[in-house]
Amino acid sequence: MQQRVPTVEEGKDPSSSTRTSHARALPWRLLLILLVFLGICLVFSFISIFTFRYYGVSSILATAKPSFQPCVSEPNSLEQWIKPPSNLLHSMNDKELLWRALFFPRVKKYPFTRIPKIAFMFLSKGPLPLAPLWERFFKGHEGLYSIYMHSLPSFHDEFSPSSVFYKRFIPSQVSEWGKMSMCDAERRLLANALLDISNEWFILLSESCIPLYNFSMIYHYIKKSRYSFMGAFDDPGPYGRGRYNDNMAPEVNITQWRKGSQWFEVDRRLAITIVEDDTFYPKFEAFCRPACYVDEHYFPTMLTILAPNLLANRSITWVDWSRGGPHPATFGRADIKPEFFKRITEGQNCLYNDQPSSVCFLFARKFAPSALEPLLHVAPTVLGF
Ligand SMILES: *[C@@H]1O[C@H](CO)[C@@H](O)[C@H](O)[C@H]1NC(C)=O
Ligand SMILES: *[C@@H]1O[C@H](CO)[C@@H](O)[C@H](O)[C@H]1NC(C)=O
Ligand SMILES: *[C@@H]1O[C@H](CO)[C@@H](O)[C@H](O)[C@H]1NC(C)=O
Repeated sequence: MQQRVPTVEEGKDPSSSTRTSHARALPWRLLLILLVFLGICLVFSFISIFTFRYYGVSSILATAKPSFQPCVSEPNSLEQWIKPPSNLLHSMNDKELLWRALFFPRVKKYPFTRIPKIAFMFLSKGPLPLAPLWERFFKGHEGLYSIYMHSLPSFHDEFSPSSVFYKRFIPSQVSEWGKMSMCDAERRLLANALLDISNEWFILLSESCIPLYNFSMIYHYIKKSRYSFMGAFDDPGPYGRGRYNDNMAPEVNITQWRKGSQWFEVDRRLAITIVEDDTFYPKFEAFCRPACYVDEHYFPTMLTILAPNLLANRSITWVDWSRGGPHPATFGRADIKPEFFKRITEGQNCLYNDQPSSVCFLFARKFAPSALEPLLHVAPTVLGF
């Protein structure tokens, strides 16, 4: 049995003469091939590790799960929290918007250099015929203001990309004078403006308003004021207390009932107070209906109850009721003369930071589209811009 093994082995290898040279060469070649193979493996694994580390992760994520790629990057730096929204036409409804607008910091000091801005909120039916005057007013003051426009939803206007009004319309709804839908529009404007953390003061204007001074002057006046300019007075007559409804008690009683023009200026704190209110809103909605014009009573009364010490109780928007009737006077082309502006800006008396002042109004209404041309003409000398 034992002898059979070598014979079989010998039979396997017929050329016994070359046997010794084969036996010596084979391990060497094998070793060489093995070494080369090992070397190639090492080089390839090194390359693959390197590329995976530096480019692999993102490309694998991008190809493997593109549906998880967010269109807006997550706020993982402070910059992204303080940056104003890039598109005002969001898809939030009012309920969602007000909820979102009421995220506000509890730390008084900002951990970055915050340059406070004025939010100019235009409440209009449609076009802004006096836009060229406002364009000139804002020119050169970028970074100190933001613009928001609320018009009827059916209205679509295209401002050119060079305009300060370009893409400044917010999602809107139909609002009617004297009805709660008007206050809803004002709260909607405030809520949208609150989304920009740098907006500190909020001014409500209409399409027929004009500024009476240059931007620097208005910015300074608002910034240095201790109070917000919300018109609020106690009118004992039929158009004041006469509109009060006893059902509003106990939230509002008649001594707290106020009246004022809807064209206000409030600071950030009061803007939040207005947007977050769910105590007074249902009362005014149910019990202040025409002939109780809710936009003349809701904010003045509510803020008089909640924050009387922050109110100047006067409006900074001039309007002329002297002609009588249910609507204030509208001024057109023929009215725009230097004497006209003297009437508005001179001989006024009011309190500014508890001191007597002759500068009482920063804006005026109502101006017809025909007033634009003469206004542009007199603006450099009379209005200061
Ligand atoms: C703005 O108006 C004020 C006075 O109303 C004036 O002193 C100031 O120089 C004006 N500023 C500019 C930049 O025109
Ligand atoms: C209305 O409120 C004021 C202040 O809280 C209070 O002094 C007054 O008695 C109240 N009047 C009525 C009629 O409830
Ligand atoms: C505004 O009116 C309220 C009361 O209605 C009062 O407490 C407040 O002091 C007034 N503001 C100023 C600046 O006089």
